[in-house]
Amino acid sequence: MQTHQYDVVIVGAGGAGMRAALESSDRARTAVISKLYPTRSHTGAAQGGMCAALANVEEDNWEWHTFDTVKGGDYLVDQDAAEVMAKEAIDAVLDLEKMGLPFNRTPEGRIDQRRFGGHTRNHGEAAVRRSCYAADRTGHMILQTLYQQCVKNDVEFFNEFYVLDILLSHDLVGGAVSDGDDVAVSGVVAYELATGEIHLFRAKSVVLATGGAGKIYKTTSNAHTLTGDGMALAYRRGIPLEDMEFFQFHPTGLAGLGILLSEAARGEGGILRNGEGERFMERYAPTIKDLAPRDIVARSMANEVREGRGAGPNKDYVLLDLTHLEPAHIDAKLPDITEFARTYLGIEPYTEPVPVYPTAHYAMGGVPTNIETAVLRNNTDFVRGLFAAGEVACVSVHGSNRLGTNSLLDINVFGKRAGLAAAAYAATADWVDVPEDPETGVVAELEEMRARAVGDRVADVRRDLQQTMDANAQVFRTEESLIQALKDVRELQARYRNVSVQDKGRAYNTDLLEALELGFLLDIAEVVVVGALNRQESRGGHFREDFPARDDAAYMQHTMAYRRPPGTAAPSSPVSSDAAAAVAATTRSGDLTPGGPGSSAPGTYDVALGYKPVVVTRYQPMERKY
Ligand code: FUM
Repeated sequence: MQTHQYDVVIVGAGGAGMRAALESSDRARTAVISKLYPTRSHTGAAQGGMCAALANVEEDNWEWHTFDTVKGGDYLVDQDAAEVMAKEAIDAVLDLEKMGLPFNRTPEGRIDQRRFGGHTRNHGEAAVRRSCYAADRTGHMILQTLYQQCVKNDVEFFNEFYVLDILLSHDLVGGAVSDGDDVAVSGVVAYELATGEIHLFRAKSVVLATGGAGKIYKTTSNAHTLTGDGMALAYRRGIPLEDMEFFQFHPTGLAGLGILLSEAARGEGGILRNGEGERFMERYAPTIKDLAPRDIVARSMANEVREGRGAGPNKDYVLLDLTHLEPAHIDAKLPDITEFARTYLGIEPYTEPVPVYPTAHYAMGGVPTNIETAVLRNNTDFVRGLFAAGEVACVSVHGSNRLGTNSLLDINVFGKRAGLAAAAYAATADWVDVPEDPETGVVAELEEMRARAVGDRVADVRRDLQQTMDANAQVFRTEESLIQALKDVRELQARYRNVSVQDKGRAYNTDLLEALELGFLLDIAEVVVVGALNRQESRGGHFREDFPARDDAAYMQHTMAYRRPPGTAAPSSPVSSDAAAAVAATTRSGDLTPGGPGSSAPGTYDVALGYKPVVVTRYQPMERKY
């Protein structure tokens, strides 16, 4: 095993990781570990823009942006965090401009801005132009720009290294750790794809920036690599995951495929129509119609299909109509997504409406942090030296539903904050001892998987997971569907303990690493479903048909999901509502839980749920109408 020592180790080289690296590498010895080459990170797939109240094309201000974010998140947003993000948005965009990002421009030469769902003028009067963009490839431009800056600044990358474990000073899952105890990070263990060699990275600070987990679903805009790695690694080490039941379904995935067609299409004037040609969003959101927030649009689309007003031979999708837009306008503003429609569906968007249906897009939940990106291990205590930013994290700026373009913003604002905080911490912190033989557990489990001669195929287990999540934990949910999903996930966890890989080699064994990622997906899916079962209300992206109303009295709280031995209560504010009974009804004896790298032994863990209060500063919860 090779050992490395850095002040700061950043795990993940998407937008959040590289933005953090730019700050940290100036101030501390920093390494970035990434399972991909940085320019292949999923930030590059983000399309429509990054919002900031620049007021370049019409009146706007950061307070309206904060309000829209809070209302868009159905009041589950931590308002102190939303304020920070909206205020710092302006400098975040200008920083990128100075780095050379080729934003679209107004005729006067200012950064141009376009409309996006849920972004409004004066608390909901009308849609406002707040999204700064580079055609429909804004994420691609951000990724390239940040990477160029990292190269210029000599940031050290370890590409195609998979992190297998996060090393902590204490065992948070089964150990005797109390509130207030000092728990610190000491580094990570990683697997080098090219050689199969194990590496230990000792670090004073570790920043998680590994992105999302969209691959728990079959129909998703997410790349094959979005397998919830950082979330699952933290969870396996006993760090809670916050608000995981809130998963965003982007309204306009290419029907049947899930490939993203940017909301920018509607920002530029595109209209959603049902099979009867009706502009149905006029009925669901009379003020801002097609530019309502995503949860509302996705649900409206799914409802049109359920009520028989879908389009196509099976009436199972709706249509995105761009045919009234000038082809030159489409070419200038939406070149990539219109090409996707041509390539993948054979549709010419100049003249034909494009079939679309909601696609799993974004995890609102993740590893809980404060606004300085420090990771919480319960409602009040932190893991010293551990930070998180971007989709892997839940600083709770998105609450129960993220507004479009707030994610490219989130990675820039909180990525920068993470880099600064990690470097500042490392400047004064002492080294924390790593455990003796830190790799033993995870390597043994990986080797067992590699050596297993026969067993279930990884692809089969993953397919079955994605199918049950699509069928049972999608836009509409019920107790019945969620119990089905949980039963399925737990059976799949049992099957996972017997998966075998065909490639037994060491060099470039992606087969083995996909097996590892499947374990992460199963853990995350379980947490999503358990949280969704417990939350007997509808809010943002989580819609329970059996509990269609928002219930602030019982559920205006963040969910905190902990991996613990069965029967152990969550460390703080354990769930006490009747809803816990729904989860308890499906709780299995611990023997179905996979071990997986990061666990000390196969077998004896459960999801323990607790709550954390929502931070309310300026905006009291109101009924959410558009
Ligand atoms: O529709 C889009 O361009 C996606 C943007 C986002 O998720 O923020």
